Amino acid sequence: MTKVLITRKIPDRFVNDLEQFAEVEMWPHDLTPMPRDQFLASIKDATACITTLSETIDETVLSQAPHLKVIVNMAVGYDNINLELTRTHNVVVTNTPHVLSETTAELGFSLMLAVARRIVEAEKYVKDGKWQSWGPYLFAGKDVFQSKVGIFGMGEIGQAFARRLQGFHSDVLYHNRSRNLKAEKTLGVHYTDFDTLISESDFVICTAPLTQETERRFNKDVFKKMKRDAIFINIGRGPIVVEKDLVEALKQGEILGAGLDVVTEEPIDMNHEFLKLDNVVVVPHIGSATVVTRNRMIQCCVENVKAILNDKPPKTPVEL
Ligand code: GLV
Repeated sequence: MTKVLITRKIPDRFVNDLEQFAEVEMWPHDLTPMPRDQFLASIKDATACITTLSETIDETVLSQAPHLKVIVNMAVGYDNINLELTRTHNVVVTNTPHVLSETTAELGFSLMLAVARRIVEAEKYVKDGKWQSWGPYLFAGKDVFQSKVGIFGMGEIGQAFARRLQGFHSDVLYHNRSRNLKAEKTLGVHYTDFDTLISESDFVICTAPLTQETERRFNKDVFKKMKRDAIFINIGRGPIVVEKDLVEALKQGEILGAGLDVVTEEPIDMNHEFLKLDNVVVVPHIGSATVVTRNRMIQCCVENVKAILNDKPPKTPVEL
């Protein structure tokens, strides 16, 4: 019998749908990842596997899964999957593009506003009972309105972010592997080289995927070149940033603050320096976390599994 392995608990209605076509084995927890040894044992006889970013898909997995036809990643990013190996093993990979772009941009925007207006610090101040009176510069922050914003990565998420900035009358620069003429035309964003982007922007927003080219791209030299009152937002992937360099830049006042949806080691170590800094807001990788969007992502996964099981082309293959 065909088996679909699902590595995280998803709502029954999606499981019931898949059960029309296959036997389904689902890890019954939504906040604890499937232990690696159990994952390796369970994928042995699976034809399709719905994974999350918690599962690393490498040779150990693929060599033990002779029946596997597809890895259906419940994310737009797929840096947890070795694509060269999936190609060698003839395993299709799918992701969940399009459905999460607006939601992820919105989280990035929330982080930008939260850091700029010191919302988290200010709220803690109130709850700690420290609010005594109004003060002219009490929690004085920084305007996004009419600022210069540099977006690193002008894919769908970068464009959704830029669209939101139109209401803030910002001047939007971007840097991307290739120019996005459509975005330039429709959103009025300006292409620049990376150095101009980081040195001129009041807000630097990283929306890029993790690749060999982007890994460790934001390092000591980059933070030194940023404006001293720049705010850095990362909604891409943690390893795009050299975290100790960011910590140093924040401590030395080389930049003003940071908002991070992603970090290198997730979940974050509770002793991480980020958590000791008032000018850093960290959230637990919730870029696409709205109920509607998560439903759409799971639906997209289900459709990809069904297509493969029915020998049809997948809906959203990762193009190799
Ligand atoms: C989340 O980070 C995703 O890639 O969808």
